[in-house]
Amino acid sequence: MTETPRKIRLLVVDDIVETRNNLINLLYFERDIEVVDSATRGQEGIDKAKKLQPDIVLMDINMPDMNGIQATEVIIQQVPGVAVIMMSVQGEQDYLRQAMRAGAREFLVKPFSGDELVGSIRHVYQDEQSKRRFNPPVQYQPGAPAPTNGSENSLGEIISIFSPKGGIGRTTIITNLAVAVKQISKKRVALVDGSLFFGDVGIMMDIRNTKTMSDLQGRMEGLDAQLLQDVMLTHSSELKVLLAPSKPDQGELVTADDLKKILKELKNNFDYIFVDTFPSLKEETQLSILDMSDVILTVMSLEMTAIKDIRLFLEVTEILEYPRDKIALILNRADSKHGLRAENIETTIGHPISASITSGGPAVTLSINRGTPLVIDAPDNPFSKDIEALAHKIIDGALGKKEVVVSKKNGKVKSKKSGGLFGFLSRKK
Ligand SMILES: Nc1ncnc2c1ncn2[C@@H]1O[C@H](COP(=O)(O)OP(=O)(O)OP(=O)(O)O)[C@@H](O)[C@H]1O
Ligand SMILES: [Mg+2]
Repeated sequence: MTETPRKIRLLVVDDIVETRNNLINLLYFERDIEVVDSATRGQEGIDKAKKLQPDIVLMDINMPDMNGIQATEVIIQQVPGVAVIMMSVQGEQDYLRQAMRAGAREFLVKPFSGDELVGSIRHVYQDEQSKRRFNPPVQYQPGAPAPTNGSENSLGEIISIFSPKGGIGRTTIITNLAVAVKQISKKRVALVDGSLFFGDVGIMMDIRNTKTMSDLQGRMEGLDAQLLQDVMLTHSSELKVLLAPSKPDQGELVTADDLKKILKELKNNFDYIFVDTFPSLKEETQLSILDMSDVILTVMSLEMTAIKDIRLFLEVTEILEYPRDKIALILNRADSKHGLRAENIETTIGHPISASITSGGPAVTLSINRGTPLVIDAPDNPFSKDIEALAHKIIDGALGKKEVVVSKKNGKVKSKKSGGLFGFLSRKK
């Protein structure tokens, strides 16, 4: 839903006069954006945000009296409906997590282009508009902990599947894995299609029904086990499935807060919650899935581009302060004859590969077209066997327990458990 009935009203808060002027000049010719005022200090920014009620505050992080993070916390709490975009210079990415905790919606690293700035403003505004249509802005108390992942009092394990690359096998793996875990464990297993715009889970599992995540819109305040039960579908394997909205414009209406609430409720009601995603770290919804996950199955292939992207993704997870064992690398099509060697990849990226999945050949495509996961259709196929092995690892809590070779000295192989300084050491080599 992209209509902008009026201009996006923006307040700029930055203590450096040239930066302020540059930002105002960059935005001057944008027809849909109006800079309503600017402020040079955090407190002044808060006062002006209260008085002018802008749609968006563009906030610098480093300011003399009150920094941008503190100012953001106050604004988010005291000015309902305003969204904050944080700006920082290179090297201050450590602030990313703090900014997100304070409630900032996006994080721009200076220097950024006019296009990046405008794109970010429009994106945040549209997202805020969609959210407001269905949910009043969520307020957090100052000093209170940031929204938690809801794991304190709940039992279920959230296992998402992610990759910076599209078309790498996420949906194929997660649908088969969820079924395998259900069949082996006989526990309560849910599958959520978090690929909100072009979700494929319904097709791959041949679940055709009118009920999707969209049926929760406008009902999030009353979300409970019963409501979830109403909108979740039961696959023939007895797996419970929450489908993604059936149209991209409906997908736009699902917010990060919605997903957090859904996953939190599922955690209270299921033992394993598998979540499919799509490859965008810019999308808050996807970040919220990753934040909420206990384990992120991170899919890669034996190609240089995939490996490069995984390295970058691992750096992002460090910035986000995810524990290392939250990331379980999954090597898909591990038997590729033309790819790199798996052992070399582990050393290059400094992270162990938790599981490898063989190529299932045309049988996989056939199973997708039939809408029957291969673990049901052809349990003896090598692909199904590998999925089954991964399912056992998950059920046994054995993911990420693998040791990886870090160095070979005097002919002796030294090994080290994943985690800790491994990434750092391998980068220094
Ligand atoms: N191990 C495998 N063996 C055989 N085919 C595979 C395997 N993994 C993935 N594929 C094939 O690759 C294609 C893409 O897989 P899939 O749709 O699961 O990827 P995705 O990462 O979910 O993509 P998208 O970005 O579209 O969501 C599918 O046609 C699937 O059949
Ligand atoms: Mg997919």
